[in-house]
Amino acid sequence: MKNLVILISGRGSNMEAIVRACAHEAWGARIAAVIANRPDAAGLAFAASHGIATAVVDHRQFPDRASFDAALAQVIDGYAPDLVVLAGFMRVLTESFVDHYSGRMLNIHPSLLPMFPGLKTHQQALDAGCRVHGATVHFVTPALDHGPIVAQSVVPVRTGDDAAALAARVLETEHVMYPRAVRWFVEGRLALDGERVTLTPAEPQWLFFDDSQAAGEGA
Ligand code: GRF
Repeated sequence: MKNLVILISGRGSNMEAIVRACAHEAWGARIAAVIANRPDAAGLAFAASHGIATAVVDHRQFPDRASFDAALAQVIDGYAPDLVVLAGFMRVLTESFVDHYSGRMLNIHPSLLPMFPGLKTHQQALDAGCRVHGATVHFVTPALDHGPIVAQSVVPVRTGDDAAALAARVLETEHVMYPRAVRWFVEGRLALDGERVTLTPAEPQWLFFDDSQAAGEGA
């Protein structure tokens, strides 16, 4: 049984998707804890109502990143995680924290990395005139929003989209892709080879979400 610790900052819809998939698909894993850096993170209530241990390490209580990360790592390690899952965790992490969880920490970022690291990714994609956009699950390395790619989801960008519409379309794919990627880790199917991630046995490490017919645009 593998221990998963999920870190959130807010809504926690990706965390929810992972919790549900873990239970419904009977993974060989348990969600050992959900930890937030904000006491008002909405996702904490969902976790607690599902009998999952929750904790808050409030970054505002620490003078700098290093002391926050050290305290956070101490709480995380109390749950002996095999994998740390960043699910909308909105903190930049120090190199020593990232190194400590090297090869056992995943993140989801709402863009097709290496395009659009950082914030406001949906607006960035719109401003750049992209015709497709998406999300990326990757192993975390010290460079922000960078690291070996486990899976990517792709959605169309539609005429008339604003950032909110695009974000909603991408988020729907995140809820399918992130649980799937975490499950691959739990099953011991992911191997790191430099920047590349191989999945054994192989299956598509991408999702194309094309709802053009539903949107009345034809194929
Ligand atoms: C998601 O779009 C995720 O890709 C990004 O932050 C958002 C978190 O949403 N890192 P939620 O908290 O999982 O609902």
